[in-house]
Amino acid sequence: MCGIVGYIGRRDATPVLIQGLKRLEYRGYDSFGIATVGSAIEVYKKMGRISDGEAGAAHLHGCTGIGHTRWATHGEPNDVNAHPHTDCTGKIAVVHNGVIENYSELKRQLLARGHIFRSETDTEVIAHLIEEHYDGDLLAAVNAILPELHGSYAVLAIAEDTEQIVAARNASPLVLGVGDAEVFAASDMTPLLEYTERVIYLEDGDVADLTPDRYTVYHDGRTVDRPVELISWCVEDTRKGGFDHYMLKEIFEQPQSFYETIRAGIDDRIRQMVLEAEEITLVACGTSYHTALIFKYLAEALCNIPVRVELGSEFKYFTPPLHGLVIAVSQSGETADTIAALKMAKARNCPTLAITNMQGSTVTRVADQTLLMRAGPEIGVAATKSYTAQLAALMEIVNVRCDGAFDDVLSHAHLAIGDVLLHEIKEAVALCAGAEHVFFVGRGAFYPVSLEGALKMKEISYVHAEGYAAGELKHGPFALLTAETPVVAVCTPGPTYGVMASNIKEMKARKAPVIALGVVGDTELAEITDIFIPIPNTHLLVQVLTASVVLQLLAYHTACALQCDVDKPRNLAKSVTVE
Ligand code: F6R
Repeated sequence: MCGIVGYIGRRDATPVLIQGLKRLEYRGYDSFGIATVGSAIEVYKKMGRISDGEAGAAHLHGCTGIGHTRWATHGEPNDVNAHPHTDCTGKIAVVHNGVIENYSELKRQLLARGHIFRSETDTEVIAHLIEEHYDGDLLAAVNAILPELHGSYAVLAIAEDTEQIVAARNASPLVLGVGDAEVFAASDMTPLLEYTERVIYLEDGDVADLTPDRYTVYHDGRTVDRPVELISWCVEDTRKGGFDHYMLKEIFEQPQSFYETIRAGIDDRIRQMVLEAEEITLVACGTSYHTALIFKYLAEALCNIPVRVELGSEFKYFTPPLHGLVIAVSQSGETADTIAALKMAKARNCPTLAITNMQGSTVTRVADQTLLMRAGPEIGVAATKSYTAQLAALMEIVNVRCDGAFDDVLSHAHLAIGDVLLHEIKEAVALCAGAEHVFFVGRGAFYPVSLEGALKMKEISYVHAEGYAAGELKHGPFALLTAETPVVAVCTPGPTYGVMASNIKEMKARKAPVIALGVVGDTELAEITDIFIPIPNTHLLVQVLTASVVLQLLAYHTACALQCDVDKPRNLAKSVTVE
């Protein structure tokens, strides 16, 4: 969702801000803007892509500035609603990520006091409130208005007559980057990678005063020492590296990211937590919810522990009775619904574990322990390598509960992932690209694999796709099966093989073309289906991975065939920081 970036130092701020915003593009946005402090505050903001509008910012001067990518919440996407927003005098500018819940009330009061608003955004109230308190001390003015704001915010503010940025965080991510005689601020670490590896993760309630030579962090009015941490990613990780799209690059990185996550292992405190749990509840959204569901099937079958999986967005309002370990699964570590669920679990005194790809993200601050995936930056909006790295972390937990029974399987799984990356799937892609609807079906752990296959297909190719437990098709969706609705079925050896084969025959009887994923050499399955895609004949844990990767490739190539914007699908944001 929205991204913010700030720079104060000796360089010309505009190129640093534009470059930083480009690094945040992956979060999703509809407009962008920057403001710099030169002899006066100068603002440039525009609807649309940064690459299309950045030239218009070239005239902005100054070594202090703030920038923003906006994903509209309050007010439609247009030039006026884009950030930064200024006060009536144009002497103060702010960028904001989050939602000011009481903004209508604040705006009504400000209008009554004579303020003139230009935009429909909640953010603009912040600039006007600061204006009312500003007498040359920006830090004091920001501190004075924060108690009036209800909701979530990461805010950066600048004022015309001061070489300073004031940053404030509450329930929206904000990280500082510390350079030599320069300080950066951003929603996440990706804009900082080019300039520094030293970062400070601000906590909720922190206010930071930034000048070129120093940063001071305050909490409850007192200065606090926040640790400077080293980023483990480097800027090369954020480049496309010769691939047509980030998504394809990230699909191809999966053998490595899976292997790295397994290799990093699980530390003793987490091991202890996992071994002590009598029951496990996972909370997650979207793709992460699907990995959690896969974990449920695997953990219940392989280590006989009861597992419950909850959607973050439902959990907060319909909290189930909780016992045992609660695990929040989130690539970004910033998904608002997942964070809310995690906080509720903590409030109920459950031991909590976060599985995330983002060092320093909010879930790592809330949970008792963190299991960090080693996927590296994932820039494509659609989760791919983070999905398999989440599975690596979750499979490690299964392995711990099974006393290391899968050590060997897990340490070789990346080889099988590598084996399917270059699979020939042209025929299947042509079938999906020509269809209006595609169904994905499987049983057991392959049911959530199918849910994920369908999610990938619809989010990047816009082909309508649904995932079902294979046995459920005949309870309704069969009505939709025609010769034009392909079904992608995952059918591997095991207790459900026979019943899956019967389900496939039922689909064929309704003329639906069937694309089957089965193990190499399964001629029986190949004979009863239209297109057969072989995956290695390995352990169930590995089949889950290889089948998932083939479905990612199917979605990717279908989206390319339909000329979709694979890395930035419409209406979607990488990091969903509002409820
Ligand atoms: C889909 C996708 C989303 C995310 C979801 C949760 O490809 O990426 O469905 O999985 O928004 O995000 P995280 O894992 O960051 O909590």
